[in-house]
Amino acid sequence: MWAGLSPGAAPEVTGPVTADYDFRVGLPDARLFPYDVWRPLIARELRLSGTGAVGYGDPVGHAGLRAALARHIGLSRGVRAGPDDLLVTTGTQQGLDLVGRVLLEPGDRVVVEEPGYPPARLPFLAQGAVVTGVPVDAEGLLVDAIPPDTRAVYVTPAHQFPLGMPMSLRRRTALLRWAWRHGAAVIEDDYDSEFRFGGRPVETLQSLDRSGHVIYVGSFSKVMMPSLRLGFLVAPAGLRTALRTAKYAADWHTAVATQAALARFVDDGLFARHIRRMQHTYAVRHRIVVGALTGRFADLAEPVPSAAGLHVTAFTRGPLADPRALAARARGARASGVAVHTLAEVAADRSARPGLVFGYGSISAPDIEPGLQRTLGEPREP
Ligand SMILES: Cc1ncc(COP(=O)(O)O)c(C=O)c1O
Repeated sequence: MWAGLSPGAAPEVTGPVTADYDFRVGLPDARLFPYDVWRPLIARELRLSGTGAVGYGDPVGHAGLRAALARHIGLSRGVRAGPDDLLVTTGTQQGLDLVGRVLLEPGDRVVVEEPGYPPARLPFLAQGAVVTGVPVDAEGLLVDAIPPDTRAVYVTPAHQFPLGMPMSLRRRTALLRWAWRHGAAVIEDDYDSEFRFGGRPVETLQSLDRSGHVIYVGSFSKVMMPSLRLGFLVAPAGLRTALRTAKYAADWHTAVATQAALARFVDDGLFARHIRRMQHTYAVRHRIVVGALTGRFADLAEPVPSAAGLHVTAFTRGPLADPRALAARARGARASGVAVHTLAEVAADRSARPGLVFGYGSISAPDIEPGLQRTLGEPREP
């Protein structure tokens, strides 16, 4: 059942990189992580474990962390959840795996976005599901194109991966109505929307859902760092017991010291401070990327409008509209020290429209324009 599946972007974003200009997608700026405040929090929790004060934890997660997170996502994203609605995971990937285990039977159909996030398909395929790509347009997933026998729909409404636009309110409402009519589940992957750059955020599917069809999946990979392997999910009450059992079966619980340290980090206001600081940093980088693509490089690239997250996708045009020319240019850029990916490389859909994905989590602001120039070639004369 795994045959023919390319995990796509996943292997590319792991491991050290030695590029002069790092546009890899999906990575936050590890240089700006607040190690000085995180280190004593972790040390304290490990010391407590060492005294035997802490043993095995609850599969649903650390109670203090669940309470802190419920408050945080209520305030920041309008997610309607109490601590008992939350389950702490080792990241989105585990969240999707647990959801797949409790929802799917072999042969069930799961719809994913096309182009979309390749790793999301793996846990569904592992359950023997049939994974069907449904195209997205400027408003998000084409709800009318979802096959009627679909059991679950996986979407990235806040910041579509990899294109970057938000799902419109009209499309969100249509998706929820569709799920309700067909008795299907909607899996909402909200992976990087803490970082917003203007505009009013559209309500999450979870907060719009009145019939208990949405499972909301969150991650700390962007807002903290991916190697922590921390995330959470918010599920309707009817799935809670099954999810708890699935988590228990999978790995009993996520590391207690990390959860407890994060709970303190949130409760002491350090998390909010870190988000504010990174929000400012990424807003500057987002503005520089979009400004250069719509200005100096407008003959070669057309960025997809986006107002959140850690990457901007641009369709390529002119000499780079040809997929072979684009692939050659990307190879050339990599050979000359730029870590950058084409849209086809990060999306499961190899026939994606020619484009490039510019992650700005790991590149400093002054390096952005020279990096774009080395990637795209000489811009037109002003
Ligand atoms: C669409 C999407 N969802 C989720 C994640 C985060 O996954 P995890 O929490 O497993 O690190 C990423 C990371 O790049 C992503 O692009």
